Amino acid sequence: MNFRISDSVTWVGKIDWELKKFHGDQLSTNNGTSYNSFLVRDEKNVLIDSVWKPYTDEFIANLQKTIELNKIDYIIANHGEPDHAGALGELLELIPGTPVYCTKSGKKSLHGHFHKDWNFQTVKSGDKLSLGSKEITFFEAPMLHWPDTMMSYLSGDNILFSNDIFGQHIAADQMFDYRIKPDLLEFELMKYFANIIAPFKKNAKIKLDELRNMDLKIDMICPAHGILFKENPQYALKKYEQYVNDYKEPVISVIYESMYGSTALMAETIADGIRQELPGAEVRLMNSAKSDNSDMVTEIFRSAALAVGSPNLNHGIMNSIASILDEIRPMKYNGKKAIVFGSYGWSPGHVDIIEDMLKSSGIEVNDKLTVNWRPDDETLKKCFEFGRKFAKDIDIEFNRQISDRDKIVNE
Ligand code: FEO
Repeated sequence: MNFRISDSVTWVGKIDWELKKFHGDQLSTNNGTSYNSFLVRDEKNVLIDSVWKPYTDEFIANLQKTIELNKIDYIIANHGEPDHAGALGELLELIPGTPVYCTKSGKKSLHGHFHKDWNFQTVKSGDKLSLGSKEITFFEAPMLHWPDTMMSYLSGDNILFSNDIFGQHIAADQMFDYRIKPDLLEFELMKYFANIIAPFKKNAKIKLDELRNMDLKIDMICPAHGILFKENPQYALKKYEQYVNDYKEPVISVIYESMYGSTALMAETIADGIRQELPGAEVRLMNSAKSDNSDMVTEIFRSAALAVGSPNLNHGIMNSIASILDEIRPMKYNGKKAIVFGSYGWSPGHVDIIEDMLKSSGIEVNDKLTVNWRPDDETLKKCFEFGRKFAKDIDIEFNRQISDRDKIVNE
């Protein structure tokens, strides 16, 4: 299935309804994905990006329905990761010598993956490629998502081909923003940022500022995954502007794992204490052993505060808590606050491990609470107060969100 997105541009990618895990098995892609590739036809024809290698044959067969391959004058590889460059090996066997435009780092990563001396044409920000009546301008975007990443801008149609930036893992029948459920687009845009772009959000902020300062006329933003922002490209830009600025919503995530229910009981009671103090906040409980890590990363990203708990396990913490804390370590979540809790039998020091891991993610830890064995009524009161006190410490921005309608009477 190929479809036209403007007078001169045809989408020639692959919609992958089956993909449920990405980056190996690291990232969940519950809504599938797409590998967006674009054919621009002018006096010269250019192919922008390709698809993941397993779909190479299908990609080339579909591409041939739209253009004779030897009429492709140039290839632009905005990014060398195999989900976008995977089909280039076989394609360039069919049209050898076709110039491949990429950054200097792109040449390294493409050569590193394919070990071929293609006709690389390395470009820098501001370099242009004339197609006849229109031209492509290149913008390097290092670390968004690899050192090699760049974006390409097509004049005339005013389309920004942004590669991973503004991407979302969504497979859809109609790949335009005005045809997709807004909640799905919002969630997957955030999930993509939280899991893939967030470690490099400083670079993203710089790039967004550059784009704004250039006053580029952008009629469409076409990322290399998911929905194309045709009706409202400003939506994607505005969302990213929020995400890069220590984003948070009035949400408190309570993340825990439990062995025999003691730490789970603490989690529930701490959550009750938070709710009592902040009825306008959304309090989310997630057992990390039963939750999707990528979705938890997204919830942590949007949370203003966290409560993280584990029982002691051999002077350490439970695997799923260690896993999620390790996953958010590179994110540098400045501005978020946390408390730490957990039960223990004979060694309570494990909460210090959680504290250290949270701090290395940029999260400020306000307080810690341990309970020996199973909490009784007295210690549950302590848990409730622990949650309530934490909520008080962070209540300034939350209270702005509370209306009378939001006030819940807890019994
Ligand atoms: Fe979608 Fe960094 O590749």
